[in-house]
Amino acid sequence: MSKTMKIFTGSANRAIADRICEHIGVRLGDAIVDRFADGEIRVKINEDVRGADVFVVQSTCPPVNDSIMELVLMIDAFRRASAERITAVIPYFGYARQDRKDEGRVPISAKAVANMFTSVGVDRVLCVDLHAAQLQGFFDIPVDHMYAGPVIKRYFRRKNLSGLTVVAPDVGSSKLARGYAKRLDAGLAIVDKRRVSDTDTEVMSVIGEVKGQNVLIVDDMISTAGSITQAAKTVRDLGAKGVYLAATHAVLSGSAMERLDAAAIEQLIVTDTIPIADANKRPYIKVLSVARMLGEAILRIHHAESVSRLFDDMEDD
Ligand code: R5P
Repeated sequence: MSKTMKIFTGSANRAIADRICEHIGVRLGDAIVDRFADGEIRVKINEDVRGADVFVVQSTCPPVNDSIMELVLMIDAFRRASAERITAVIPYFGYARQDRKDEGRVPISAKAVANMFTSVGVDRVLCVDLHAAQLQGFFDIPVDHMYAGPVIKRYFRRKNLSGLTVVAPDVGSSKLARGYAKRLDAGLAIVDKRRVSDTDTEVMSVIGEVKGQNVLIVDDMISTAGSITQAAKTVRDLGAKGVYLAATHAVLSGSAMERLDAAAIEQLIVTDTIPIADANKRPYIKVLSVARMLGEAILRIHHAESVSRLFDDMEDD
């Protein structure tokens, strides 16, 4: 696209937007995104975007409803200001776990949220590790789905741990864990988890060997940390040596920090798709950035180049 590229951000994760701009070498667009006295969101784009190729960076992370509404209103503002194309860059897509009607009289919230963005005129979406890849189909516009895996795997490969087994904390994460195991030349084990409530889980059994191993438990997100800390306790009880945790999205809600603090892990590796509140920062938490990856994807989208080629390049790094 020969149009000017402009990058803006809402207030959910300004830090990653700054890092993306730094990587690309552009200035972050000037916009006001704050609140009116009554709590309503106020958006004002302070520069001309007519005919521009606009990218709006906004993780729909907690406070999730505010983050979503900011993004809706920003897209609406850009559309009405005659931007040529609007891409929502959503490093973390909230509501993604509500992606089906698993009981009567419940919404498919992830679809409703996707509808909100498309109804105000977003043209494309760029996101990272959707809870389920099928969520791409909730949008009838192009979705570029990036994976933080290469960034986390590269970090872990450099640690060069001996006797490593990658563990999926539930069956749903087994494909993700298999990819890590293959890339890290490690063994694979799967925890058979049962969800008891939205905050608690119970482990039924473990498929695979973890005794005497360094274990890396991988998941797409840590919300209340129930799933991952249950898995950590289980593998430790089964004789695992060192326990490492890795997840793309550090939602860290409810009792997550108490659970993680008590889990006696070697390290937790997450990415910057969601900012870590100061109160949740810990020496055992290592934050890796996916900003470079998103910056590269933005450049490729802008220049109409292949985004999937990026994965090959990253895995080769
Ligand atoms: C489950 O399907 C997800 O991949 C995560 O394992 C889960 O949502 C994490 O939630 P929590 O940390 O509250 O157990």
